[in-house]
Amino acid sequence: MLTKWLIERKRDGAELLPEEIQALMRGYASGEIPDYQMAAFAMAVVFRGMTARETAAMTDAMMRTGEVLDFDGWPRPTADKHSTGGIGDKLSLVIAPLAAAAGLAVPMISGRGLGITGGTLDKLESIPGFNVRLAIPAFRRIVRDVGCCMIGQTETLAPADRKLYALRDVTGTVPSIPLITASIMSKKLAGGARTLVFDVKCGRGAFMTTLDQARGLARSLIRTGQALNRRLAAVITDMDRPLGAAIGNAVEVAEAVEVLRGGGPAEVRQLSIELTARMAVLSGVFVSFDEACPALAALLDKGEALEVFKRMVAAQGGDVRAIDNTARLPVAPVIRDLPAPHAGFVADLDADKLGRAVLALGAGRRLATDSIDPSVGLSRLCPVGTAVEAGMPLAHIHARGVTDAGRAEKQILAGIVIAPERPAERPLILETLDSPA
Ligand code: URA
Repeated sequence: MLTKWLIERKRDGAELLPEEIQALMRGYASGEIPDYQMAAFAMAVVFRGMTARETAAMTDAMMRTGEVLDFDGWPRPTADKHSTGGIGDKLSLVIAPLAAAAGLAVPMISGRGLGITGGTLDKLESIPGFNVRLAIPAFRRIVRDVGCCMIGQTETLAPADRKLYALRDVTGTVPSIPLITASIMSKKLAGGARTLVFDVKCGRGAFMTTLDQARGLARSLIRTGQALNRRLAAVITDMDRPLGAAIGNAVEVAEAVEVLRGGGPAEVRQLSIELTARMAVLSGVFVSFDEACPALAALLDKGEALEVFKRMVAAQGGDVRAIDNTARLPVAPVIRDLPAPHAGFVADLDADKLGRAVLALGAGRRLATDSIDPSVGLSRLCPVGTAVEAGMPLAHIHARGVTDAGRAEKQILAGIVIAPERPAERPLILETLDSPA
């Protein structure tokens, strides 16, 4: 079968057969199909889209270009959560140990930050010694012994996705719901979890800026996962404003630890509990969402999820003393208050502007090859609705020097609106979907 014909048929809007898509993915992973042909195919998909059958076939084919982990026959049901990425999103650090404390096994394959969105692996690496590059046998052993383990995509998990995602990044072919679905889903399925819960972020600080786009992606993920025999749910959550009071790496680990101790910002706790509850109910650990939520809240309040997190940190080579005392996490040379310019109510926090300010401080990457500074970022960010007096701290800026801190101050203030009236409350969870309809 000639690759050129398949590209032409997709360009002209035809539906490809599952075996044709399989041949394309296998050929690309093995190097038989060159980048220029795959880039042309991806661009044809951007314009023509894919049917549900094609998307499922592409996901399955990409997953099968590498190792597919199998936890069948294990005593605990397996589940994983995936976020499409946002500003201040440290939920995985809470959800993996919380789900494990509730009786699930969580083999979590996480990603790195790129652009304004942070990455779970970068956050974990701010814990001294923490290793996110474990080989698969060690990963399996820790999932079995501790209940959860968090690593990056290895060379052997969905290698066609690694190659294709890098190609899409430089050929203008990232924004396509079927390609995003196949990319996210192929590596999650290769990780072996039978239940998947997606947190599709929506708003100024997210990949999907409108509810329609977020819904389109959520439905495509559910449809594809169900076609491949997984149990799924998707929750669309607000990312117009950042999540929680910390944005960065070490500062977000510290906030996640607060939530694991039973405290922390209410919205981080609420969303952690609700997403974990969906994983647990779909997996059969609880009979209903209403039963799951208080039981999970109790696991946070009693410190049981924190104990699991500490065991996972130790098993992955991390220094547990930095969890017992988060002052031992990397500390920025300059930490200073951001004073409110005038009195009023915090009426808006622009996730995009705050994300860009934190990226400029050095907490994120502009290019996939950039390195990051684990110590910098923002903490104690006042939530929307807070009443402030002039000069009162709106946040703490953690910077490498006074020049960086001064520049960040201006950028952050440009993303905060202080108004005379208290703003109306907005929901954090915009929609929940458990079927593609
Ligand atoms: N994240 C992924 O893993 N793949 C995409 O295509 C987009 C976001």
